[in-house]
Amino acid sequence: MGYNFKPCPTHSGFIFARGINLTFNNSRMDYDLKKIISSNRLVGLWRLMTGFQLIYVLAVISLGIAAIAKSGTYFLLRYFVDTFFINQDQRFSPALIGLGFVGLALLQGGFTFISGKFAAQTAEGSVRRLRNYLYDHIQNLSFAYHAQTETGELIQRSTSDVDAIRRFYADQAIGFGRIVLLFVVNFIALAYLNLKLALISIIVVPIIVVISMIFFKRISQAYEAYQEQDATLSTRLQENLTGVQVVKAFARQKYEIQKFEIENWEKFIRGKKLLSMHSMFWPISDIFCGIQLLAGYLIGALMTINGELTIGTYLAYSGLVVWIIFPMRNLGRLIIQMSTGMVSYQRVVEIIKQDREPLDEGDIHPDHGINGEIHFNQVCFEYDTGSEVLKDITFHCKPGQVIALLGSTGSGKTTLVNLLPRFYDYTGGNILLDGIELNRYPRRYLRQQIGIVEQEPFLFSRTIRENIRYGVNKEVTQEEIENAANIAAIHEVIRDFPDGYNTLVGERGVTLSGGQKQRIAIARTLLKNPRILILDDSTSSVDTETEAEIRAAMEKLMQNRTTFIIAHRIQTIMNADLILVMEKGKIVQQGTHEELVHLPGMYREIFNIQTSIELELEKELSSDS
Ligand SMILES: Nc1ncnc2c1ncn2[C@@H]1O[C@H](COP(=O)(O)OP(=O)(O)O)[C@@H](O)[C@H]1O
Ligand SMILES: [Mg+2]
Repeated sequence: MGYNFKPCPTHSGFIFARGINLTFNNSRMDYDLKKIISSNRLVGLWRLMTGFQLIYVLAVISLGIAAIAKSGTYFLLRYFVDTFFINQDQRFSPALIGLGFVGLALLQGGFTFISGKFAAQTAEGSVRRLRNYLYDHIQNLSFAYHAQTETGELIQRSTSDVDAIRRFYADQAIGFGRIVLLFVVNFIALAYLNLKLALISIIVVPIIVVISMIFFKRISQAYEAYQEQDATLSTRLQENLTGVQVVKAFARQKYEIQKFEIENWEKFIRGKKLLSMHSMFWPISDIFCGIQLLAGYLIGALMTINGELTIGTYLAYSGLVVWIIFPMRNLGRLIIQMSTGMVSYQRVVEIIKQDREPLDEGDIHPDHGINGEIHFNQVCFEYDTGSEVLKDITFHCKPGQVIALLGSTGSGKTTLVNLLPRFYDYTGGNILLDGIELNRYPRRYLRQQIGIVEQEPFLFSRTIRENIRYGVNKEVTQEEIENAANIAAIHEVIRDFPDGYNTLVGERGVTLSGGQKQRIAIARTLLKNPRILILDDSTSSVDTETEAEIRAAMEKLMQNRTTFIIAHRIQTIMNADLILVMEKGKIVQQGTHEELVHLPGMYREIFNIQTSIELELEKELSSDS
């Protein structure tokens, strides 16, 4: 079949599908769902089932057997009435005929059960794989993609839309097979009874199909609009909960609630539209099916009176015809329900289509690590073509030096340091690391060599130990962890927690102060032991007392590493080997503190302002006491 995802080979059956549970985790990266992408959504959905296609077909065949058993019941009924009763042909005893009815019922029940089981297996199995794949895929998408995609949208697509696909397999797709089989089997049975009557009984089919197709298109659109709005709502909720402190601090609950209500109203409107379309479809198709059924009964009755049909045949007909009208009625419903699965498939594919960040692309990855000498030569960068965020950036630093970046918000400091781990690739000039073009180092390698302490470090809701050892891939001893925590001046704080290093961080555990989080992040980076260090505004959000501690911790962290430090306080950066003053994406001044402070320009202005403020503060403090 050509789409042989390794974890579940195409020849798999029931047992194989189970086996995936055991082997899957080890081989998550062995398959690529990108291959399932097809402009035809049904083809795509079929491919997504790779590995389960066989059991899926078995599920449909089981349904077919169940359908045949069902039709068989009516034939047995005809036999019972016409041959046994009316013609008094008593070759088979009533008990045997009764047994025949029971047997057929058992057959029908048994195969319906098997089919349901197989269908569930297909649905749960393929969707489980899809979920894992999506999670893995989303982790590996580029910085740029995450920057421009709303979290709520990603969550919506990897949960609600995936679930719609699951329902598609479990209910709709299998239901479709069932309906087609029921229809075919029962139509053949009817035709065998009486061809004329059989043809009369399906006049309505094309009408139902046409109506379904019309509704299919409109319901697809309505559902898509609904899912979009649902995503907007989750984004809003997620953002609101993340920023709950800001909301409370500014007492903006009312405003937030109002905004939520507006979005929720829109969802209501769209949901109503979707539902009303569903509810419009039902009566229409029911009316047609009802007329068809009645007409069939009537014509059949007339034919029986005229002697064209036997009573047994009429009885069998009236039983069978329900089983042809019933699938028809459901066919329409299924066609329009299938639209949800297909729209959701499309929405999920939009994520799958995104290119992953090629983490291992690049030919330079020295085993002994890097020295940390960096050249920027006329580097330019733009996020969106046409608007340069960095212009003509040129500087040089030796291994182990400290480079400080100073400049107003939006001047491009974060953008500049984000080029080093290749979160983004520069669009002009070049950057040399140890004399080699930066683009030749694989991203993964660079990120292993570079440690970043963000302005507001993010800690996971896991234990403190896990948070500290997050950056290292190998086993680390408790001693190493404590050592890092010690240097980061956080060991004693952690020791005093009731569960020590096993204390959970976040909602279900301790609440850490900004400074404590900062120091845990420093310990995390220390343990990683990177050659290049980036400190992005790492001290601006903590109070002065902890700042002294953090600064001491950072100084230890900075030893023997090429360090980029972004800070607003001159005091934090005046010992740097090189200070870059940035303005609107350009370096406007560079040099050491001693050099810059004696030159007219931005640095001296900032220095003067900051020192005079500090002097005044000191004066005030001393006059107070
Ligand atoms: N992901 C992004 N996409 C597009 N523009 C961005 C992105 N990140 C930052 N910018 C823009 O780039 C400029 C520099 O931003 P940044 O490097 O964050 O400045 P700084 O760190 O000095 O405050 C700003 O104009 C900002 O709006
Ligand atoms: Mg910044």
